[in-house]
Order: sequence, then C-alpha cells, then structure tokens
Amino acid sequence: MESSSIRHIIQNIPKAELHLHIEGTLEPDLLFSLAAKNKVSLPYSSPEAVKAAYTFNNLQEFLDIYYAGASVLLHEEDFYLLTRAYLHKAHEQKVVHTEMFFDPQTHTSRGIPFGTVIRGINRAREEAHAELGITSHLIMCFLRHLDEASAIKTLQQALPWKDSFLGVGLDSSEKGNPPSKFRHVFEMAKAKGFMTVAHAGEEGPAGYIDEALDLLNVDRIDHGNRSVDSPELVSRLRERQLALTMCPLSNLKLKVHTDLSQHPAKRLMEQGVLVTVNSDDPAYFGGYVNENYMALAEALHLNATDIATLAGNSFKASFLDPITKNQWLQTLHDQYGPKDTNTQ
Ligand code: ADE
Ligand code: ZN
Repeated sequence: MESSSIRHIIQNIPKAELHLHIEGTLEPDLLFSLAAKNKVSLPYSSPEAVKAAYTFNNLQEFLDIYYAGASVLLHEEDFYLLTRAYLHKAHEQKVVHTEMFFDPQTHTSRGIPFGTVIRGINRAREEAHAELGITSHLIMCFLRHLDEASAIKTLQQALPWKDSFLGVGLDSSEKGNPPSKFRHVFEMAKAKGFMTVAHAGEEGPAGYIDEALDLLNVDRIDHGNRSVDSPELVSRLRERQLALTMCPLSNLKLKVHTDLSQHPAKRLMEQGVLVTVNSDDPAYFGGYVNENYMALAEALHLNATDIATLAGNSFKASFLDPITKNQWLQTLHDQYGPKDTNTQ
C-alpha cells in the first residue's frame, strides 16, 4: 500500500495514547513565553536555539535538559496551558483518550505545591473533555533516581487528590535504579486501589521487566524494548496480554536503537504481544503520536491491518472501563475491520 494511504489511515483512525509525559509536551515557544512571564533564565537565545540543542546520546542527557525545561512551570496557569496545548494537539491527531504521566517530585522539590500542579492539569482536562470530547486519565510517576522514601512521601502527599489520578508509574534514569528499589511504595499504591505501570527495558535489561512484573505487579510495561532478549518473557507477555507502551521516535532520539528498522515492535506483534505506539515526550523527540505511527510504518513496512491492530491495542491496553473500551473497539471494527466481500 502506498505510504499516502497509510498516512491517511494513521491520521484518521481513532486511537488512545498511553505513554505521554505531560512535562515532555513543553514546546520551545511555550517554554520561552513561560520563562519570560515567570522570570526564569534559560541557557538558550531563542526557541530555534532550543530545538537545535535537542540532540541526545542517551536517556540521561535528555533527562538533564527535560528537568531544566520543567523549571519554567511555576503556577497553576502554567500547568493548565501546558496540558491544554497537548490535549488540543492530541485531538487534532484523532487521539480520543489519553493516559498522561506527571512527575510531581520534579515540581514539589522546587517548592511548588502538589495541588498547584494537579489543579492546573485537571482544569485543562475538564475543559478539553467538555469542548473536544477527549477523555483522559492521569498517572503519577515516581522518579526512580530518588529514593523510595521520597516516593512514599509523594504518595502520601497525593492521597487528598486520589480521585484525580488512577495509577502510579516509575520513570527517570533506569540504569542502576531497578524496580526492586520501589517494591514497598508500589505495594502501598496497589493497596489503595491504584493501577500500576513502570518504565522497564528501555535502557535497562530484560531482567528489569521481569522485576516490574514480579515485584511491582504492574498492569503495563512502558517501553519494554529489551523484552526481545528473553523468549520466556515474550511468552509471558503474550500469555497475560500485558501491554508494552512503545515509543519509536523516543527510542531513536535516545539511541535505544540506531535505526528504526531494528525496532522490535513488529517482531513482538507477530509473536502475539500487545504492542502500542505512543509519543513519550513529543516536544523533545520530534513528533506526536501520529508521527510515531508513521515513522514505524515506514521503517517496518506496516500495512493497514497492522495500523488497525495497533489502534485496537491502544484501547485494549487502556484503563478505560470495559463498556467504553468495547465501544471504541467496535467503532474500529466497523470502520477499519475486514470487509464482508459477500455482495448479496
Ligand atoms: N521521563 C520522561 N521521559 C522518559 C523516558 N523516556 N524514560 C524515562 N523517564 C522519562
Ligand atoms: Zn516515558
């Protein structure tokens, strides 16, 4: 199939986004305008200079710049503007449901109250739902380069806002910070009824994915690229239909893979794993969700059926209620499923 018709399908097919850091949607223009408004100095002369500086050799080089960028977010209005911009962009790309990560410790460590962050994000979510119909959930991530005591303190701080987010996650520097470091806080979060996810096997080994499953009891794995190193793990993911939220352009920019033709998404799909495609930190990695679908389709020669499978997987793997999930799956089946060739 021609790439123009694949592009058309990608642009128009309803989809959910399940791996998106709201702080990673801070576009250079908004970064600059918030820095000016909040009198935060930046080490760049212009938004163009910012874009030119976004080249990374690994996850840590990116994280250093990403945390520096987040320092312009001070007020409720800033979190509102950030979230609003992403939700409008997602809506343009036919994202009908999104499950967004936020990193409270990045903000509370700078003296920003937890409530300021969540009120701003929630205002944008409610407004976008009313205006655009887009639904969203929030997942609060713990920063794994910090200790577990800090994560536990963050969970306790978040409890007055527990109805605003439905899950907890684990992100930041993976190497040297295994899931086992956070087993108690994940147990506490599970006991409170939260869904759980964790970044694993992005730069870290397949063993970190096993740990996230065995010790954190996660409901999804974020990234999970290194699962291909372990046939036992791939079987486990397939049998449990435990989803991977993969992010191809992120993997390319952070040099997890030197070329997208090496990306394991298609191999894993062929082995029955529930693979989804997402944008991670689109302002830093050069594309929102549709650009990620398109880059993967071009590199791995995905066809229309593969795209429909990926969009279907995004709903299957979501934390939507079963009725809504099935409604979206039915819509996809009606619009993009195999056509009945019987003309009688
Ligand atoms: N925080 C934001 N993006 C991340 C990524 N790709 N991996 C780990 N932590 C992150
Ligand atoms: Zn991520």
